[in-house]
Amino acid sequence: MLKSKWLFGFALLLAAIMLMSAGCGEPEEIVDEPEPDEPEIVDPDEVVITVAAGAVGMELELTRDLAEMYSEANDGVTVDVLDTPDMADDRLGLYLQFFEARSPEVDVYQIDVIWPGDLAEHFVDLYEYGADAVADDHFPAIIENNTVDGRLVGIPWFTDAGLLYYRTDLLEKYELDVPETWDDLEEAAQIIQDGEREENPDFWGFVWQGNAYEGLTCDALEWIASNDGGEIISPDGVITINNENAIEIVDQAAGWVGTISPEGVTTMAEEDSRAVWHAGNAAFMRNWPYAYATSLEEGSAVADVFDVSPLPAGRSGSGAATLGGWQLAVSTYSENPEIAADVALFMASHDGQKYRAVEGTFNPTIMDLYDDDEVLEAAPFFDTLYDVFINAVARPSTVTAPQYAAVSELFYNAVHDVLTGQTNAADAFEILELDLEELTGFPSE
Ligand code: GLC
Repeated sequence: MLKSKWLFGFALLLAAIMLMSAGCGEPEEIVDEPEPDEPEIVDPDEVVITVAAGAVGMELELTRDLAEMYSEANDGVTVDVLDTPDMADDRLGLYLQFFEARSPEVDVYQIDVIWPGDLAEHFVDLYEYGADAVADDHFPAIIENNTVDGRLVGIPWFTDAGLLYYRTDLLEKYELDVPETWDDLEEAAQIIQDGEREENPDFWGFVWQGNAYEGLTCDALEWIASNDGGEIISPDGVITINNENAIEIVDQAAGWVGTISPEGVTTMAEEDSRAVWHAGNAAFMRNWPYAYATSLEEGSAVADVFDVSPLPAGRSGSGAATLGGWQLAVSTYSENPEIAADVALFMASHDGQKYRAVEGTFNPTIMDLYDDDEVLEAAPFFDTLYDVFINAVARPSTVTAPQYAAVSELFYNAVHDVLTGQTNAADAFEILELDLEELTGFPSE
């Protein structure tokens, strides 16, 4: 685990919380089992704020730490963390159930960078709760993304971009360079896989996210953008997906399935591919920055033998990363929106983001944290790959709102059909183009 002096204060606070919850040395029976006639003392003014949060990598534990810090520092408030499904589509499904019921059960939602447009009506305007004091500290593009009709519906929490994880020891062993193109990657993955298979039958060249879900939209957008094949739908509302460069690279990716990538890659999400990587069974992995901290954790087979680089380029373009990331949004149905907003702003504050960056390599959205020595010591790639984060390609969520989720589903299902050999990219994208025209009413290129 990464340590720093800066965290000392937080560590002390956490230790204090743990001591207190252990009863400060008093016999436990007295605390846990009040006399039968003695009514339990429940503070009627105690407010419980529930934060629906992710649990990918170290996410959950770090969110719980921040929740405890807030509860400890604010008498009368307890912050609970609700663990939600890993896959973005499943998490969205859960959130929609809460919204449908206008449920006050969850006060703060961790929302994907692609959701503000689709979900804006369910969230308060954080500018009415003090966000104007901090908005300028964040990357302007993310604030803009989260602003719907002038309302700030989520405070940026962390940003994401796809990265190439590679094994430094194996590149050295086989005298290979870090791949700069997908063709290079294919070749290197095959050479390393052939060599390693002699000793390790479970070894694969390249793992990524090929299941039919939002993660595949991210991976496939990276392939397509890196081959100068556009962004599925352009920011001004033109459907561009049915083009030669997009078709070429998606057919190329289908060729990886069962050769340099396991057949099962078409059922993998982030954590599945990370498990293969973590066990030392892959030469390359496409994943988000959170996998950097987890690769260094105890039990990781790759702790001292990996690094990250920008994703490779296609035959006609230059490497591209999909823009990801998560915000904190306060529910319109919350009974305590003011306190909920205070919790969200605390978790997404300079110190909250620094804690998560140092402990879990979650990329801050607060710009000056990219100049912070302790952050850069924990995550040197925040500096070396800064351009990747700044130039990440956005999914067409703003232009297609409130229908982005449906657009993405059509896209990832089409790509998935190509990856699983049910069709080829030319046929799949011809049909996809028509489906997208019908759904969005946008013209095609
Ligand atoms: C990451 C990204 C998010 C994306 C998801 C897809 O969590 O931050 O934006 O939608 O992966 O799996």
